Amino acid sequence: MIYGERIRFRAIEREDLPRFAAWLNDPEVRSGLSLFLPMSLAEEESWYEAMLKRPAAEHPLTIEVNQADIWTPIGNMGLFQIDERNRSAEVGIFIGEKSYWNKGYGSEAMRLMLRHGFNTLNLHRIYLRVYETNLRAIRSYEKAGFIHEGRMRKAEFQEGCYIDILLMSILQPEWKESFDATGR
Ligand SMILES: CC(C)(COP(=O)(O)OP(=O)(O)OC[C@H]1O[C@@H](n2cnc3c(N)ncnc32)[C@H](O)[C@@H]1OP(=O)(O)O)[C@@H](O)C(=O)NCCC(=O)NCCS
Repeated sequence: MIYGERIRFRAIEREDLPRFAAWLNDPEVRSGLSLFLPMSLAEEESWYEAMLKRPAAEHPLTIEVNQADIWTPIGNMGLFQIDERNRSAEVGIFIGEKSYWNKGYGSEAMRLMLRHGFNTLNLHRIYLRVYETNLRAIRSYEKAGFIHEGRMRKAEFQEGCYIDILLMSILQPEWKESFDATGR
């Protein structure tokens, strides 16, 4: 387990898959992700089998929230595209339990993943891509210390329109400076 203040990360278990499929079939959750078709449990199971064959550091983790000593799964997140030579990785996140949105869990989970990436995996740069329309996600990444670094113009077709994909990143020294200042 990797513990934060209100949350923890644990390995994904096969029992999580029905819950993940339900979350990813919610159009509101899916609109921020690069998924656009309904997903079956069988497809989610194939994703899980393929995921187990990827390097261990790239296995996504289940995000759980602690409430009165009961740990409740609310989403998942992970690092991928880990580049050993350049010490960089991409990060992805979704909180599927919508009642947990806008309560700071996304930015807390991101800060915990940055600590894991920089302090445990010895990464130097962590980056992400986010749709320009996903204002909640952009704000939560800014709160976690990500800096805007670019824009892929009209790179995604969604709801009949082309939209931009924003590129954001944070470097280990930037993270360390803010971590030393806030302890989070
Ligand atoms: C994106 C996501 C991880 C963010 O997690 P979260 O717990 O909801 O985010 P936080 O509560 O930490 O921060 C959200 C911030 O956005 C703000 N916000 C919410 N809606 C907003 C809007 N329409 N415009 C601007 N800001 C908005 C909130 O007020 C909050 O900022 P504040 O703390 O300064 O008030 C989560 O909402 C999610 O998983 N969404 C669905 C999947 C997805 O889009 N994943 C990201 C793919 S790149």
